[in-house]
Amino acid sequence: MENGQLEFSEDLAVYKMLTEFRVPLFETVLSQIRIPKNSHGLDAGSGIGTFTRMLAEETGEGGHVTGLDISKEFLEYAEHNNNSENLEYIHGDINELPFEDQVFDWIWSVDTIWPGPKELGCPSEEPMGIMNEFYRVLKPGGKMYILYWTSQKLLPGYPILEARLNTTSSATAPFAEGGDPLNHIMNVRNWLKFSGFRDTISRTFLCDINTPLSDNDKKSLSILFDMLWGSAEKELEVMDVQKFKHLCDPSSPENVLNNEGYSGFYTYTMFCGIKK
Ligand SMILES: C[S@@+](CC[C@H](N)C(=O)[O-])C[C@H]1O[C@@H](n2cnc3c(N)ncnc32)[C@H](O)[C@@H]1O
Repeated sequence: MENGQLEFSEDLAVYKMLTEFRVPLFETVLSQIRIPKNSHGLDAGSGIGTFTRMLAEETGEGGHVTGLDISKEFLEYAEHNNNSENLEYIHGDINELPFEDQVFDWIWSVDTIWPGPKELGCPSEEPMGIMNEFYRVLKPGGKMYILYWTSQKLLPGYPILEARLNTTSSATAPFAEGGDPLNHIMNVRNWLKFSGFRDTISRTFLCDINTPLSDNDKKSLSILFDMLWGSAEKELEVMDVQKFKHLCDPSSPENVLNNEGYSGFYTYTMFCGIKK
C-alpha cells in the first residue's frame, strides 16, 4: 500500500481490460439464464470479481454469492472494487472446496477448470475431482453452469492466415495434441454426466466486435492476439509470421485494428446440468 492506494501487478491490469471487454457477453448470458432471486451461489474461480458482482445483483438483496479464487491478489482487488452486501470472497482451491455438503443453489465457473499441466496454471490434470467437489456442495436440484471462451474470428480479410494460426498449439492450449479427448472442454457435458448431473445441455453465446473500437477494445484485442497466437511462430511459415506481425503492429498501415469497417466476434459456450 502506498499513499493509501493499493498496488497491483501488470497481470491484473491486463486482466481488468479483458474483463471489461467481456462484460457485454456476460450481460447477455445473465439476461437469459435467470439466476433465481434470493438464491445462494458460488462463483468458482471468481478472478477480479466483476462477474461475481453481476451474479450478486441477479440474486437481489435476499440472495448471497461467494466468490472463490486461489489468487490472493485477484481476491484483494475484488474485495476493494467489486463488493456488495450480499457478496463475500474466499481464498480456496476448487480441488478441495472449503464448504459443507449441499450448501449452494447454483455454481458458476468461467474459464477456470482447464484440465492440463500445473506449470501452465491449470488447476488439475483431469476434471473429475473438481466436478465431484461441485456436485458435493450443490443442493439436490442445484444448477451447475460452466463456461469457456470457445472460438473467435478476429482477423477480417485474412481468413487463411487466421485458420493457420488456429491450428497452432498456443491456440488450443492447454489441450495438447494426443491429449485425452475427454479432457477437452467441448466434452464438459460428459464430465457433468459422469459426476451425476442430469439434464445436461450446452449453449453457445456470441459477442460481436464492431467499429468504432474503443481504446479498451483495441488494447484487449492486441492482448488476445498475443494470448492466442503470440507463441505460434515456431509452428508457422516465415511469411505467415511476418504477415501476422504486420497485422498486429500498431505502427503498420496493415494493422487490422485500423480497419474502419472492423468486424469480428468471439463465443462462449455454457454447459449446464442439474444435481439429482
Ligand atoms: C482465466 S481466470 C477466469 C476468472 C473469471 N472467472 C473470469 O472469467 O474473469 C481463471 C481463474 O481461476 C483461478 N484459479 C486457478 N486455479 C484455481 C484453483 N485451483 N482454485 C481456485 N481458483 C483457481 C485463477 O486465479 C483465475 O482467477
